[in-house]
Amino acid sequence: MTAPALTPPPLSLYVHVPWCVRKCPYCDFNSHERRGELPFAQYVDALLADLDHDLPLVWGRTVHTVFFGGGTPSLMPPEQIERFLQGAASRLRFAPGCEITLEANPGTAEHGRFEGYRAAGVNRLSFGIQSFDDGCLQRLGRIHDSREAEAAVKLAQDAGFDNLNLDLMYALPGQTLAMAEHDLERAFALQPAHVSHYQLTLEPNTVFAARPPEHLPDDDAGWDMQERCQTMLAQAGYAQYEVSAYAQPGRRCAHNLNYWRYGDYLGIGAGAHGKLTLGHEQAILRRWKHKHPGKYLQTAGTAEAIGGDDRIEPARRPFEFMLNALRLVDGFTLTQFTRSTGLPAESIASALADAVRRGWLECDGDAVRPTELGRRFTNDVIERFLDEPEPEVPEP
Ligand SMILES: C[S@@+](CC[C@H](N)C(=O)[O-])C[C@H]1O[C@@H](n2cnc3c(N)ncnc32)[C@H](O)[C@@H]1O
Ligand code: SF4
Repeated sequence: MTAPALTPPPLSLYVHVPWCVRKCPYCDFNSHERRGELPFAQYVDALLADLDHDLPLVWGRTVHTVFFGGGTPSLMPPEQIERFLQGAASRLRFAPGCEITLEANPGTAEHGRFEGYRAAGVNRLSFGIQSFDDGCLQRLGRIHDSREAEAAVKLAQDAGFDNLNLDLMYALPGQTLAMAEHDLERAFALQPAHVSHYQLTLEPNTVFAARPPEHLPDDDAGWDMQERCQTMLAQAGYAQYEVSAYAQPGRRCAHNLNYWRYGDYLGIGAGAHGKLTLGHEQAILRRWKHKHPGKYLQTAGTAEAIGGDDRIEPARRPFEFMLNALRLVDGFTLTQFTRSTGLPAESIASALADAVRRGWLECDGDAVRPTELGRRFTNDVIERFLDEPEPEVPEP
């Protein structure tokens, strides 16, 4: 039997901006506290050189979404965002109506800034709100209060942005169920198109991991908040489509959906990760760039800026695919699995059957979706798709 062909899925472009005004104590993203003037003009030169270097990997392909993530991309002056987008559009074909998102910290909102982003081509903003409770915001080390957060969202709406996401976190230090509910009510009042609702996690190598904050809600309290907030979001017209993502009809985030569907993405910028299907080699390549902004600025556009390349062997692909696809409420189709991994559906038949028997997944013809139970135990379900471990070699 010949193996099915690996078909390049839709392509996205991710652009990382690695600086913030202040480092939040819970955050493990590649973000560095700003010290003095930031070299944004030089950074855009580096981004375009980086893009040039990766272009042969995506020759002739169309970009369906662009995402400026961080760090804090809203620190970038609109003129530099515009210069980057113009440079990118002269090197790559952008799909008509291409979704272009920029992450914004409400503490960086200024008059004129959002108009500038819109004029540059940005058509979606994602605000890091986290909470509307000033005590919670302070304990999270945020640079803005709740009033500033609301004002920033309104400024963006006045500038014509109607496709807005608000990031909220729950299970925060000192937070009660009533406070988590109140955060959602304040969010709904702003009528965003999309809400991302994340449970606070203590990530390794963060200040919070080293010194956990006091009065963290326990697991049961966190679970109660999640359940109650899911209900409130549904009642307010936000349909859950992924573990933490909720959208009004037609407003799901196309960029993140492409990740979760095991799509392709070019990763440009300090520490950015990319995943690309190389049709001619029948290979899947993961590539990441140097994390440190200084080193990245000096080397972008050369092989030295590449932090690493990793080819994803066929045995690893089912796990990688599930790690993404099983986050989606709608799951995936076996046709999608075969096209984007180059593997026949039979290669996962026994793991699938096992997960169905345990009540974690349900299959309907070509479609596979996690059940309510499966969504509670996502990690256990995904583990079923790990390739067989190498036999252990005894120590000499
Ligand atoms: C790169 S940040 C968004 C933009 C901007 N940097 C900001 O914070 O305003 C992405 C989002 O991930 C979420 N996040 C970051 N660290 C987290 C953690 N430890 N636990 C849960 N969510 C987290 C936050 O909601 C944050 O807004
Ligand atoms: S502003 Fe955002 S990216 Fe920066 S440290 Fe805070 S959470 Fe992380």
